[in-house]
Amino acid sequence: MDQSIQSCIDHIAKDMRRREDRGQVAAYIPELARVDPNQFAISVTTAHGDCFDAGDVHTGFSAQSITKVFTLAIALGRSGDQLWHRVGKEPSGNAFNSIVQLEKENGRPRNPFVNAGAIVTTDEVLAGRAPKQALAEIVGFVRAAAEDSDIHINENVAQSELAHGDRNFALAHFLAAHDNLRNAPEMTLGTYFHQCAIELTTRQLALAGRFLMNAKTGSKLVSPSRVRRMNALMLTCGHYDGSGDFAYRVGLPAKSGVGGGILAIVPGIASIAVWSPGLDRNGNSKLGTEALERLAHEMEWSVF
Ligand code: DON
Repeated sequence: MDQSIQSCIDHIAKDMRRREDRGQVAAYIPELARVDPNQFAISVTTAHGDCFDAGDVHTGFSAQSITKVFTLAIALGRSGDQLWHRVGKEPSGNAFNSIVQLEKENGRPRNPFVNAGAIVTTDEVLAGRAPKQALAEIVGFVRAAAEDSDIHINENVAQSELAHGDRNFALAHFLAAHDNLRNAPEMTLGTYFHQCAIELTTRQLALAGRFLMNAKTGSKLVSPSRVRRMNALMLTCGHYDGSGDFAYRVGLPAKSGVGGGILAIVPGIASIAVWSPGLDRNGNSKLGTEALERLAHEMEWSVF
């Protein structure tokens, strides 16, 4: 299997380099709008402990919404099922930053991966502590999961999003109006923007994703049942309004971010990270999705 993984991702990286139609980089966070769209990287780590990389694997990228997976694990670890009083578990059928659905549903976000749900999840992790402490816990979790202490927050990206975060401020204030925010909107959002600005390489992300790989044993960080449940949420909600299409094409639980990264899990077999900054209309990496579709097909990896 190992040789075929390496030759498969080598081919994919080579093909992706040549592609002209690469999607659009996220424009609403100026620091992300500056990223060169002609980049592509993919890393695979297996349950046996092997790692395979291809493409621009030494360049760090902004994890953005992929970090929602880590804060969800922390929030569930802290509050257990209490979190579900504040956030739902259903696909949204709306954009990741939709405001209209939150109003219709009385301030209870559909799931922990749309922005409103992730803001509530970060609010739960914050729990009255100083943002610095909560961020240390979040970054600490990612570092522990990846066993790599180099993973860090890109302050420029955090400030860039903060300066252009009107939509997320609207969501946070709306949550507060419905009594679904425990900390001041500025505090929760300051923490959320910094969490989203965690920067890592595909190798580091693939390694960090290993804690979701084994639903039989769980991991040092989460229990077996939580691994199963988090994978279920990633499959149904991890790509927002494109989750059905992603499940159809790739067939793996995964979480995307507007930095162009995707973390995908092959239960019991592998953790995969892919990155290409251009996005499709749902805000998910265009070439990243295509690469995963090809890899899953060629390796016959699917949860179905
Ligand atoms: O809150 C935001 O809009 C960004 N920090 C994260 C959104 C995101 O990554 C959506 N994913 N595809």
